[in-house]
Amino acid sequence: MSQYNIAAIPGDGIGKEVIAAGIEVLDVLAERDGGFRFSFEHFDWGSDYYKKNGVMMPEDGLGKIKDKDAIFFGAVGAPDVPDHITLWGLRLAICQPFDQYANVRPTRVLPGITSPLRNVSGPELDWVIVRENSEGEYAGVGGRVHRGLPEEVATDVSIMTRAGVARVIRFAFKLAQSRPRKLLTVVTKSNAQRHAMVMWDEIAAEVAQEFPDVTWDKMLVDAMTMRMTMKPQTLDTIVATNLHADILSDLAAALAGSLGIAPTANINPERTFPSMFEPIHGSAFDITGKGIANPVGTFWTACQMLEHLGEPRAAARLMRAVERVTADPSLHTPDLGGKATTRQVTDAVIAAIQGDN
Ligand code: NAI
Ligand code: MG
Repeated sequence: MSQYNIAAIPGDGIGKEVIAAGIEVLDVLAERDGGFRFSFEHFDWGSDYYKKNGVMMPEDGLGKIKDKDAIFFGAVGAPDVPDHITLWGLRLAICQPFDQYANVRPTRVLPGITSPLRNVSGPELDWVIVRENSEGEYAGVGGRVHRGLPEEVATDVSIMTRAGVARVIRFAFKLAQSRPRKLLTVVTKSNAQRHAMVMWDEIAAEVAQEFPDVTWDKMLVDAMTMRMTMKPQTLDTIVATNLHADILSDLAAALAGSLGIAPTANINPERTFPSMFEPIHGSAFDITGKGIANPVGTFWTACQMLEHLGEPRAAARLMRAVERVTADPSLHTPDLGGKATTRQVTDAVIAAIQGDN
């Protein structure tokens, strides 16, 4: 029997609630499958750790998780700690050194969930967004001088490397090729940003030659927001820079019904380092401790983790269970307009797994 060693980092706020639910479901799934099991090691890193120790994770933190098969991550962010500290101190502190350069965000309208788009009943919206996750606008290059003085200057410099762009675009083409429609949209802004984004476009055209069976097109990011809302059925796989995809994927999550159901995988495709799986949402302090966080985004990202670990059968079983539960409006949490609790949704998914053939 295979054993998967997983680092569980719940983080802050509802991260703790949804990761606990996710672990319960994954253990039931392993038991149901019989061919594998999980060993979770918990790490209490995050804002509480920061308040005690002055850092979000210990200095040797990466060493403690680098040999794990995957990382199961909740969210970071606390009302009394600046967001750039929580984000750079933990989430990006893992993504960047572990070279998780492909951020994969599937978006679909699950059964029972209503898209805010009038013309979308379900199948018209089925996308995977690939976000460049290692450089670009979030490379962290820049600085501030004359701090606090009237002549203060601040810069954030976007860094695009040929290697970094080529590898994420190649990853997106491969992913598009693996999907039935073999359709890729490359998001750009090469009209206004005339250096790096022009290189981005050139590299896309070069890499495209390796994938003659994939149909691809190019879209300016501003026009892309219109296409996502007006013609969602014309899109399938999408690749964009770190900043562009950050924004577009929140739009995608909203169009699919709720931020609470959206999953994401931070993938190191070469598997030199563990990949990290997390719901897209943050720590949601407005609902923390109320027991009403929607765990579906975490369950869906658990499916991504199972696929990555090489357990597609269990991943499919979990997705079927999730879809059976979302199809029942009495099992919707308040973010979906319902009254169900995290506990009720989790129990229903567990029951659906146990009842699955
Ligand atoms: P958020 O995603 O935490 O919450 C946005 C809204 O969606 C809130 O009204 C929240 O209640 C709701 N929501 C989010 N997830 C939900 C779920 N699973 N079930 C039900 N409702 C849900 O974003 P916000 O409020 O902008 O940020 C809160 C904190 O989270 C900040 O400190 C921010 O920096 C951090 N954050 C962290 C992220 C991460 O760790 N990857 C991602 C986004 C934000
Ligand atoms: Mg975001």
